[in-house]
This record gives sequence, structure tokens and C-alpha cells, in this order.
Amino acid sequence: MITKMRKIGNIGVALIALIAMVSCKNDLEPNYQYMPNMYSPVGYETYGEYNIEAFENGQAAKLPVEGTIPRGFQPYDYTNTPEDIARAKAELKNPLEYTEESLASGKNLYTVYCAVCHGDKGDGIGILAQREKFLGIPSYAAEGRLITEGAVYHVQMYGLNTMGSYASQTNEEERWQITQHVMNLKAALEGRPIVEPKKMSEVDASQMLLTGDAMAEPEMLEEDHTDTH
Ligand code: HEC
Repeated sequence: MITKMRKIGNIGVALIALIAMVSCKNDLEPNYQYMPNMYSPVGYETYGEYNIEAFENGQAAKLPVEGTIPRGFQPYDYTNTPEDIARAKAELKNPLEYTEESLASGKNLYTVYCAVCHGDKGDGIGILAQREKFLGIPSYAAEGRLITEGAVYHVQMYGLNTMGSYASQTNEEERWQITQHVMNLKAALEGRPIVEPKKMSEVDASQMLLTGDAMAEPEMLEEDHTDTH
């Protein structure tokens, strides 16, 4: 009796194993490949090193065509030299309208990135200045400093001495929003009137989002292209 039960048990196990094996069988593919790299192509690694003529720079990944920029990237024409700092201070102008939205965003970003050093009011007495972690943080109203819109934008791009760059944390639009807020802090510190935000209904929509403009560009290029043919 016990041996019979065992036999039935064994048959059961064998059946289940058989069903499992058969159910995985795929008639469309060979079930066993001898040296698969004789049949299947071997892909090139994107950044692998290859001494092949087809790869000019020795790797499968090509360099971008000269003079091209990634989508959404905004070129910045000023370097971090004294001449270019002076040029940015003099000629770089805020392209954004002052709206409630842009000022609110600017204030928010300023609180996140700048206030620890420069203080909520821009007087240079942020928490890190109070604790003497950073020295020499100027007030935005400091005499002898030419703090223009261009200066505020430029210093965010490159930093200045102990102040670091914020170019990787913020995009172009955000840096101009921060600049608007800083210019208003400066005006308040100097007792001048601040720029009051425009109502949304008064704002030309095309002036609102720099990033929106940048995205629209390729379409415009295409239109130009068809016009000339
Ligand atoms: C770690 C502290 C720190 C943080 C954070 C910081 N700054 Fe500064 N900032 C400084 C110091 C220090 C200087 C003075 C640098 C110098 O003149 O050597 C300075 C200078 C400046 C100036 C004057 C530039 C000029 O041309 O004289 C501006 C404008 C400015 N910061 C804006 C900002 C903005 C906007 C942010 C946030 C995005 C920010 N800072 C974040 C420390 C900081």
C-alpha cells in the first residue's frame, strides 16, 4: 500500500516537472545555442574604446556636431573674466516681466538658495553670517559695489570668491526671478520704491516663460525652412 502511494507520488512529481519543461518550450527559437556569439550580434558599448576606422574618436558614441547645443540649453555669452563681469554688469538686462508669479517664485528660490548667507532682507546678515561661517557677505545696498540686474545674474552663473555658482541648481528663468527679488530687496534697503508686480491679465504671454520660448524655437525654424522653398 505504502509503496503504491509512493509510486503515484513519484509519477505526480515527474508529470509536474514534464509540464513545467514543455510549457517553457518555444518553437520559434532554438532551445540551445552553441557559442551564441556566432549567431547573435555583439553590440558596441556606447563609451567603449574601439580601434576601428568607423569610429573616428575611438568610441561608438559620436560627439555632437560642432556649433549645436542641446535642446533647452541656453547659451551664456559671458565668461568669468573681469572684462566680461564688467560687461554683464553694464549690459545684461532682465528679460522677464515682474509678475506676482515671478516675484513669488523669486522670493521662494531666494529663501532656499541665498538667504542663509545674504539674509531674508538682503542685508548680508543671514544665519551663516551670524554664526560666522562665512565672512565678507555684502549687503545688496553696499556702497562701492555695482549691483545691477546683470551683476546679480552673472554672480549666480559663476559665483564670486567664497560664493559658489548656482548655475546647476537653477535654470535661466529661475535665475532671473531670483534677480527680480534681489533688485527689490536692494531698492527696499536703499529706501527706493520696489517694482510692483503686474497683474497676470496685463502681461504679454510670450514674455512669461523663457523655457516656453525655447521649446517653441525648433518649430519656428521649420516654418522658416518651408517658406524659403
Ligand atoms: C555661502 C554663502 C552665500 C550664498 C549661499 C550666496 N552668496 Fe552671494 N555672496 C556671498 C559672498 C561671500 C559674497 C561676496 C563675494 C566677494 O565679493 O568676494 C557674495 C556676493 C554676492 C553679490 C554681489 C556681487 C557683486 O558683483 O558684487 C550678489 C548680487 C549675490 N552675492 C547674490 C547672491 C544670490 C542671488 C544668491 C542665491 C542664488 C547668493 N548670493 C548666495 C555669499 C553667498
